[in-house]
Amino acid sequence: MTEAVDTPSIPCGADGNPAWWTGIIYQIYPRSFADSNSNGIGDLTGITGQLNYLSGTLGIDAIWISPFFPSPMADFGYDVSDYVDVDPMFGSLSDFDDLIAEAHRLDLRVIIDWVPNHSSDQHAWFKESRSTRDNPKRDWYVWRDPAPDGGPPNNWLSIFGGIAWEFDDTTGQFYLHTFLKEQPELNWRNPEVETAMLDTLRFWLDRGVDGFRVDVAHYLMKDPAFRDNPINPSPRPVGKDRHDYDTQLHVYDNAHTDIHTVHRRIRSVIDDYGDRFSIGEIHEPDWDAWASYYGDDLDQLHMPYNFSLLWVPWTAEGFRSQIVAQEAALPTGAWPNHVFGNHDESRLATRFGTDRVRAAAVLLLTLRGTPTIYYGDELGLVDGVIGPGNEQDPWGKLYPDLNRDVCRTPMQWTPDPGMGFTNSTSRSWLPYATSDTSVETQIGDPNSTLSLYRTIIELRRVHTELALGAITMLTDNPANVLSYARTLEGAVSYVAINFTDSVQRFVFPCVVDQILTTHAHRETSFSEVTLAADEAIVVKPVRW
Ligand code: NOJ
Repeated sequence: MTEAVDTPSIPCGADGNPAWWTGIIYQIYPRSFADSNSNGIGDLTGITGQLNYLSGTLGIDAIWISPFFPSPMADFGYDVSDYVDVDPMFGSLSDFDDLIAEAHRLDLRVIIDWVPNHSSDQHAWFKESRSTRDNPKRDWYVWRDPAPDGGPPNNWLSIFGGIAWEFDDTTGQFYLHTFLKEQPELNWRNPEVETAMLDTLRFWLDRGVDGFRVDVAHYLMKDPAFRDNPINPSPRPVGKDRHDYDTQLHVYDNAHTDIHTVHRRIRSVIDDYGDRFSIGEIHEPDWDAWASYYGDDLDQLHMPYNFSLLWVPWTAEGFRSQIVAQEAALPTGAWPNHVFGNHDESRLATRFGTDRVRAAAVLLLTLRGTPTIYYGDELGLVDGVIGPGNEQDPWGKLYPDLNRDVCRTPMQWTPDPGMGFTNSTSRSWLPYATSDTSVETQIGDPNSTLSLYRTIIELRRVHTELALGAITMLTDNPANVLSYARTLEGAVSYVAINFTDSVQRFVFPCVVDQILTTHAHRETSFSEVTLAADEAIVVKPVRW
């Protein structure tokens, strides 16, 4: 009847309790969360002012803040011109210290972004590197001679469009950039680069940060021979999502096996500081290759981000197969994770559909593994509408269909003009996704999406098997209902989610009581249930 999929060990912190990073992470895009100085752009002091909401009202365990470092903002902070400071747009180091202190007072952990693959072309290191061929920092970036025909050194492409090489007139060589030409690739094969970058980790660890989200963590090591990538025999079709980058198989421009040595060294710095943490942005569809970033001895990233549920079609089987595949791929003792949204992807309410937001919330927060909630998803925010020509995202300017502005619209705190994000007369840097919902309007409504998130998060605390227990798929029921048991030390909860837009009969293995539904209240003690379209329920056994 059941399909066992679990490796049930739970990572522990120094005190022997479950590690803090098994809890709920909440991602904050700092430009868009809360604007304390009314310039239409969010900032660190704005975030500090909302920590009570995150800790007390919502009840999450850790925040991840996307980059707030000095930057020309060509890629909105993912082009870092100083790894050890705060951009004045977001505040100061002292504001960051205040944020950490307040977060820790509220028992919230703070994860920050670390962008080791590339800096800004305005970083002092790159300015030196490009000044002359014999500059001591020349080799800190990836410079190559032109090909014999004067063209780029090989066929590698930029994810943001065009070739990944930029010719530098002054020194007559090309430099590599996997993203914008304003984001030159650091050369991680140079030990001085590694030392300097590991020092930037220590800088923030010394300041009290609890962990890092490592940007494109699989890109740090490329083929040392710089071989051409092979052509992709089946690129995605023309139309939405068409992308030149897909015309190649990316076997040489990222994820060289030496990457694992680098991640071991990064981990060793983080481990020197005790209960700290790293989660890497790893886009790797092959599960075994993905899992290799934990390290066989769990000595690399604490977790590679699992993006498999972002684009899975909304079917029970689609989700079941990804969940089972992740569990099967995990090295012994590794802890899984799930993410339904981030600053690069269309919002879950738009992708999955607004009718499915509530079921998606139950799913995200009851699967085994660390969930990451993207800010605003707890309100069910949809993608914003950005008029043609108004794109701010450099990727969106090139490919309007891939415009990431849509998921970066400001957080909606109140129904007032400015939506509590900025003041009533300031213009926010992006338009609001909608004008008809906010934290304030949802908080008092027991049927709101925010209330549902709060309820599930509280349930995870009361019924710890929902947060930490083993997961076992229940397979006896209609294929279009995804159902699983969560078990921990004799405690059991069952989850059932109807992925269809029609009612479904469902039978639990015993008599149960409902502890949560996305839809209507039910009488106690039942074993059969008729699930409404898109309904998710959580139940506990009362009698076997
Ligand atoms: C991945 C980040 O998530 C994305 O926002 C950024 O544009 C690229 N890395 C480049 O840093």
